[in-house]
Amino acid sequence: MVNLQERPSAITKITNLQEKFHYELCGMYDAECRFLESQQMMLQCELNNQLRSLVETHIRETEQQIRNLEQVFSTIGQQPKRINCDVAAALVSEGQKCLLLTSDNSSLLNLSLAGALAKVENFEVISYQGLITGAEHMKQKEVVKLLQQNLQQEQQTAQKIEQHIPQLFQEASNRK
Ligand SMILES: [Fe+2]
Repeated sequence: MVNLQERPSAITKITNLQEKFHYELCGMYDAECRFLESQQMMLQCELNNQLRSLVETHIRETEQQIRNLEQVFSTIGQQPKRINCDVAAALVSEGQKCLLLTSDNSSLLNLSLAGALAKVENFEVISYQGLITGAEHMKQKEVVKLLQQNLQQEQQTAQKIEQHIPQLFQEASNRK
């Protein structure tokens, strides 16, 4: 059972679409900040060239996405605020656990990292789709535009990772 007392910012019940959108926006802002940090940590691992360049590119995109979210806050007249996103926290810690467990085998490590990234990107895709639908209902055109930029980058990144995964499986099975 979720304890709302542990979430000071959520003690006030959500009573309309604007408040629901704001709550989810704060969660997404928290998620992006966590994912930025975890991608920066991934660069410390022994990645293959393709994954390294994918992560490096997506770090720059994530930085821009965080600025876009800050712009969204400003467009709706709010200060940027993080509300703990439990899903993002769990995805990051699960990813770190897999990296640690496979750290002695670089092809399994690359495969784990790609799997962790794919989970994150697909979570981000569905989250942005929800936020965009909310912004459309609130007739916030500028907000929709900013969120669509983020969504597009997440979709492209998810696609690139998924295309790379079969090769990583191949490398991992060749190494047995
Ligand atoms: Fe992303």
